Amino acid sequence: MTAASVLVGCPADTGLAPDAGPGSTTAMCGINLCVDLKDAANTALTMVDGTLTIRAPSDEILVIRTSPTAIVAVSEICTHAGCSVRYDHVGKVLNCPCHGSRYSLTGTVLRGPATRSLQSYTAQLDQSTDLLTIML
Ligand code: FES
Repeated sequence: MTAASVLVGCPADTGLAPDAGPGSTTAMCGINLCVDLKDAANTALTMVDGTLTIRAPSDEILVIRTSPTAIVAVSEICTHAGCSVRYDHVGKVLNCPCHGSRYSLTGTVLRGPATRSLQSYTAQLDQSTDLLTIML
C-alpha cells in the first residue's frame, strides 16, 4: 500500500492504515478516513454507482458514489448475522445475500429479518481536490 498519495490534505495522520482492498489506498486523517480519488486504486468512486469497501479500525465500510456530487458510506456488515451487504444499483438499495434483509442507502432497514439499521457515516467529497473524508 502506498499511503503517501492519500496523505495530502491529511495533516493529522495517525499512522494507522485502513485497508480498502487490493491496491486501494486510504489513510487515517485525524480520527477520520481519507480516500484520494485521484489514486488509480480508488477510481471506482469516480463513477456513479461505483463502490469501494474500506476496512476501518472498527468496521467495514461500503462507500458508494450515488451521483456526480454525492457519496454515501454505511457499514457493510448486516445487523442480522454479520454477512456483507451488497449494493443494488438498479434498486438503489443494499441487499444482504444471506437471509434477504434490505436496507436503504442511509442504512435504514427496509425488509427483515434484520431489525437494526446499518451504521451510517458522513462522507464529504472535496471536488476541488478529489479527496473524500469519511467521518468515523
Ligand atoms: S445476515 Fe443479513 S439477513 Fe441475515
